[in-house]
Amino acid sequence: MKKITSVKEMKATARELRSRGKTIGFVPTMGYLHEGHLSLVRKSTQKAEVTVVSVFVNPAQFGPKEDFKEYPRDLNRDLRLLEKVGVDYLFYPDSEEVYPPGYRTYVRVHDLEEKLCGRSRPGFFRGVCTVVLKLFNIVEPDIAFFGQKDAQQAIILQRMVEDLHLDVKIEVLPIVRDEDGLALSSRNEYLNSKEREAALALPRSLQEAKKTIKIGERRAAVIIKKVEEMIRKEPLTKIDYVEIVDLDELKPIEMLKDGSLLALAVWVGKTRLIDNLMIEINEKRE
Ligand code: PAJ
Repeated sequence: MKKITSVKEMKATARELRSRGKTIGFVPTMGYLHEGHLSLVRKSTQKAEVTVVSVFVNPAQFGPKEDFKEYPRDLNRDLRLLEKVGVDYLFYPDSEEVYPPGYRTYVRVHDLEEKLCGRSRPGFFRGVCTVVLKLFNIVEPDIAFFGQKDAQQAIILQRMVEDLHLDVKIEVLPIVRDEDGLALSSRNEYLNSKEREAALALPRSLQEAKKTIKIGERRAAVIIKKVEEMIRKEPLTKIDYVEIVDLDELKPIEMLKDGSLLALAVWVGKTRLIDNLMIEINEKRE
């Protein structure tokens, strides 16, 4: 695996690979890698001839009171994991390389950026879109892989790619969970054992929603109430939002339809966790 820190070198490498007709698969990450990230990387190594992974904790997507400084980092561990799964290039620039002094340009996907997580994290998706567009320009991937764990992020980035006529195909892969059901996240690292126990209310409530839908409930409000009740049973939790939305506009819906999204964000102690369920009500598909 070759390690690259400069934008110039990464661009030159990508250009050279493309001139040789190689397909480039790309997995952008903020590091502190886990099986969720690695599932994307493995898929890329299967689907593309060359795989590039970026590790960059993007300051532009953290609010002033958020955890940019504390965000877990362990580059050596990430290196070992990436070597093992057969990554060709690791791109890990520093903040100044990506945002040199005088930096002024930001990308916004209007409306969608204000929904769900955007309400409690203003500027978050602006930061995500900006860095991902930059990374796409630098790495020039044919395919980029994202996780359904961050469902809103994937939807917004798909919109950005379409709106800006970018030549990259976005693939979204399923949420990888721990054995106890908790969706893997670098931020799970923050949880102490009591909080981790409380955090299990998230997947549990989504399972309950799935069951309720399976036996025929279609009213979004009823399902949301059930989910909220299950989460509130855990004293360490505080709900940020529980919503059922359509996939195009991320607007709340009243009655479920195939292809809606049940998304939630919950504080567990000082850690904000997200999880979601894609709703499929066409039983034949199961
Ligand atoms: P990060 O949180 O490191 O996640 C990188 C990628 O891994 C994202 O596409 C995310 O959805 C995916 N991922 C995280 N946990 C997952 C899980 N449990 N199962 C499946 N996929 C999972 O998301 C970001 O970084 C940043 O916003 C980024 C896109 C890199 C821009 O800075």
